[in-house]
Amino acid sequence: DRKIKIAPSILAADFANFGAECEAIEAQGADWVHVDVMDGHFVPNITFGPATCAAIRPHIKGVMDVHLMISPVDPYIDAFAAAGADVITAHAEAGPHIHRTLQAIRAAGAKAGIALNPGTPASAIEPLLDMIDLVCVMTVNPGFGGQKFIDMTGKIRALRALIGDRPVHIEIDGGVDPNTALLVARAGADVLVAGSAVFRGGSASNPDPYGTNIRAI
Ligand code: DX5
Ligand code: ZN
Repeated sequence: DRKIKIAPSILAADFANFGAECEAIEAQGADWVHVDVMDGHFVPNITFGPATCAAIRPHIKGVMDVHLMISPVDPYIDAFAAAGADVITAHAEAGPHIHRTLQAIRAAGAKAGIALNPGTPASAIEPLLDMIDLVCVMTVNPGFGGQKFIDMTGKIRALRALIGDRPVHIEIDGGVDPNTALLVARAGADVLVAGSAVFRGGSASNPDPYGTNIRAI
């Protein structure tokens, strides 16, 4: 049976306290740490860049999963790899040369992910199947935490069929809570990103709610 990994998104953490927040969610059972990079151009919000990723890296023991919501992507790949990203995910919609971008991510020594906005079909990954380690199915339009889940279970099933027995993760990002988690896991997802559903009710100095929230997903 496939083990479901939970990847809390630090977009919902205390931005003044990222180091302690990452340590707290790992201690409370997080499998991966999901890091949302936004540029105010590809998406209508700005978060942070490679310097912040490098600063939090020593506070993460496991996988640092960097989701780039930026355009262009290619000029920044080496900086995110040098910052210690284990997985670098770029959007299919971020430019005309996603094939080149995925090549560059692997060449930089990271696992390569491709993210699909809700309006992008599963078939977008078909020519890229042997170049990716992860496909991230957006279940919100990217840019903000705390949005309402958009049902993409049909797309998840189509991706599972395309992937076959290749070692490619299917990650879900946006609006994941205990109810929607069940839905997407049944459809074939194995990495669940969750921001608000993990961080609500807790803090780095009161981390027990993080554990309760993670176990509920
Ligand atoms: C959306 C981000 C998500 C987001 C998830 O643009 O990529 O990772 O933080 O947050 P929730 O779980 O609150 O929808
Ligand atoms: Zn994300």
